[in-house]
Amino acid sequence: MPPKPEPPPESAVTRRSFLKGASLTVAAVGVAGPGASVARGARLEEDGVPILGPGPTAMKLEVNGVERSISAPPSTTLADALRDEIGLTGTKRVCDRGSCGACTVMIDGRTVDSCSMLAIDAVGRKIQTVEGCGTPEKPSALQEAFVECDALQCGFCTPGMVVSCTALLEQNPHPTREQIAAGISGNICRCGTYQNIFEAVELAAKKGGGRGR
Ligand code: FES
Ligand code: FES
Repeated sequence: MPPKPEPPPESAVTRRSFLKGASLTVAAVGVAGPGASVARGARLEEDGVPILGPGPTAMKLEVNGVERSISAPPSTTLADALRDEIGLTGTKRVCDRGSCGACTVMIDGRTVDSCSMLAIDAVGRKIQTVEGCGTPEKPSALQEAFVECDALQCGFCTPGMVVSCTALLEQNPHPTREQIAAGISGNICRCGTYQNIFEAVELAAKKGGGRGR
């Protein structure tokens, strides 16, 4: 007859006691979490640090040279603020996770994915959207070149492409093919119009750059 297994010592952690302990720890964290953050909020308020949100918060954004006042939760992305609060729907929200570039805008002259930035972090900075690059009545040389070179199909990537190419031409008025490719490397065109976009940027460079005239 095989020997009977030894019973576990009193101090041993059994699977049952481990799970019981773990669930108590999770419950304790769940209970302590909000209380801790309330206490932290109270401490910040005592130190004179303003607590914003979670409800609508007033903010002023400078968009295309015009000051816009909005009221939105601090969790609002810049893309949502531009589209839903200000009504500038040229900025496209496609992937909403910083991977396609359709929502590209310029902040202080540098391109950013506006879906991946909070509107509140753009307060006090100069925001430029595709609407600020040129208008239907007064398009930029780049926008005209996009039309002339047929540099779009569905058009979803186009506003972001125009902003990225405008930024590129401002930094480098006569880019090479490689530099254009690097300039739009954060923008995906699912229709595959890259060749025509390269030609549009080269044509715009010959005609005077990306800005409205
Ligand atoms: S929508 Fe912002 S990167 Fe795609
Ligand atoms: S034109 Fe359709 S995604 Fe670029």
